[in-house]
Amino acid sequence: MYVQSADAPKRKPVTVPGLRAMKARGERIVVLTCYDASFAAHMEAAGVDVALVGDSLGMVVQGQASTLPVTLDHMLYHTSLVARGLSTTLLVADLPFMQFRDQATALAAAGRLMAEGGAAMVKLEGGSDWVCDVIATLTSHDVPVCAHLGLTPQSVHKMGGYRMQGKSGDAAARLREQARAIVAAGAELLVLESMPAALAGEITRDLPIPTIGIGAGAECDGQVLVCYDMLGLTPGHRPKFSKDFLAGRGSVRDAIAAYADDVRAGRFPGPEQIAG
Ligand code: KIV
Repeated sequence: MYVQSADAPKRKPVTVPGLRAMKARGERIVVLTCYDASFAAHMEAAGVDVALVGDSLGMVVQGQASTLPVTLDHMLYHTSLVARGLSTTLLVADLPFMQFRDQATALAAAGRLMAEGGAAMVKLEGGSDWVCDVIATLTSHDVPVCAHLGLTPQSVHKMGGYRMQGKSGDAAARLREQARAIVAAGAELLVLESMPAALAGEITRDLPIPTIGIGAGAECDGQVLVCYDMLGLTPGHRPKFSKDFLAGRGSVRDAIAAYADDVRAGRFPGPEQIAG
């Protein structure tokens, strides 16, 4: 039977309004993806602020070629596992592909992830007008939203692969506009994935809400990695912007604590993890 770690240091719960306060204080936010209760307990004990049940579970747990086959039931299952390993870490769950295509579908899916899964916030990809309308509907129903711009893996076929976004002047301007629209719609957190570091820095300084970078440089308000990548567990290619924190360390807990320390101290990402 799974028993929650008793040696976890006690800390105040991380809350949605608390994230903005962290940004205002200049405290970097430590985020990792998480898919089960045991990893969740280690993350909490190691001081991770936010555990994200990402639909990346389709690739790293299920062995799928993309995140598209992940269903709401898969997300509910893993979110409820992670919830059992946490007491103070904020739990965010992804809305999977096609589960926020309209307001009613999004409300029903988010409602289940919060009420049944135990999530405190849901994440959804994209920043076009219809996505902002969905964000506005969710937030008006007291569903806190984390948005996600840049490389949005659910759009892999439209993008033609997992490619850095926002490299041209026009693409960068579109991302800047979408980031503002997402804030106007009520989002409380924004993941910036695979975009030039300078652009992520500009967006971060422009917005009142925290940004969480992955492959987006060191100027975001926080960082997220896929936990299998940062423990060196992902078979084959590890993204250039990631780092194996388990290498040279004795335990998963120590590796996660080293990641948290490095993010908070501004040591991660370093120059070798910054793509553009
Ligand atoms: O699905 C996921 O794990 C994500 C993170 C990589 C941000 O979206």
